[in-house]
Amino acid sequence: MRKFVLILTVLAFTVAVFAAFVTAEEAATAEEVTHDYVGAKKCKTCHKAQYKSWLETGHATAFDVLSDEEKTKEECIVCHISGKLADETVLEGVQCEGCHGPGKDYKSAKIMSKKKWKADPETHMKMALEAGLIPQTEESCVRCHTKEGNENYKEFNFEEAKGKVHPELVKEGK
Ligand code: HEC
Ligand code: HEC
Ligand code: HEC
Ligand code: HEC
Repeated sequence: MRKFVLILTVLAFTVAVFAAFVTAEEAATAEEVTHDYVGAKKCKTCHKAQYKSWLETGHATAFDVLSDEEKTKEECIVCHISGKLADETVLEGVQCEGCHGPGKDYKSAKIMSKKKWKADPETHMKMALEAGLIPQTEESCVRCHTKEGNENYKEFNFEEAKGKVHPELVKEGK
């Protein structure tokens, strides 16, 4: 009987390990899909109001607060840039794509077209999300608004903070 229990235990353990392995592998595959960055100027062509309101925030100048030396340190720039273009050009500061995700694929006229989106917002939002658009939840902020590696950390409250990201839009009630 004891032996039987042992076999069962080993079996259960094996299944658990296998299940963990499979999910880890699935997660890795999901992360392999990458999208390229385009930079805030490209978003500006269609989202002028959002661009203007963003320019007023500290996110737009988040790279400028670093000293010349700090600007070369990977451990600092991770949260003070948005990403890099395919040619390695650094996108300075927390630009649109630092929050909304790398936009080369979702900004496509097949997805972000005023007419098509308006006709079927649900489908187009779904397409955009599949093409790399990141939903704006607390998750998308706390990768930077965290204590870890951030000596200047200030208490972060998503509900209070989210309205400050596009101040102009909030003022206009858009
Ligand atoms: C890529 C990193 C990054 C992400 C993502 C990010 N932030 Fe920030 N945030 C910063 C940095 C860096 C500063 C400091 C900028 C400065 O002082 O110039 C900052 C400053 C702020 C401030 C201070 C006010 C201001 O405009 O300077 C608020 C509020 C804020 N962030 C809210 C948010 C919210 C809400 C989100 C998610 C929707 C978010 N942040 C996502 C890096 C980030
Ligand atoms: C994990 C993300 C992260 C890392 C890594 C990080 N920062 Fe920041 N930094 C922030 C955020 C977010 C803020 C805004 C304060 C807050 O809300 O936490 C900030 C604020 C600042 C500020 C203050 C700007 C102001 O207006 O008060 C300076 C200066 C700064 N960081 C320099 C650095 C330096 C130097 C390093 C590397 C040693 C660094 N940061 C690494 C996220 C980060
Ligand atoms: C710090 C993170 C952050 C940055 C940087 C940022 N956004 Fe946003 N954006 C948000 C959040 C959060 C919301 C949702 C606001 C809300 O629900 O109150 C939003 C909403 C939006 C919306 C839809 C809602 C609306 O009112 O129109 C658009 C479009 C948009 N952003 C475009 C942009 C563009 C373009 C840029 C760059 C010029 C940009 N965002 C920069 C976080 C960000
Ligand atoms: C060719 C024009 C165009 C470009 C370029 C573009 N967008 Fe859009 N975007 C739109 C249109 C049109 C919509 C549909 C909603 C609307 O009419 O505002 C939209 C929707 C969005 C939404 C969702 C708004 C919601 O309803 O919640 C976000 C977020 C967004 N865009 C961010 C960006 C960012 C970030 C970039 C740059 C990487 C970008 N867009 C580039 C035209 C564009």
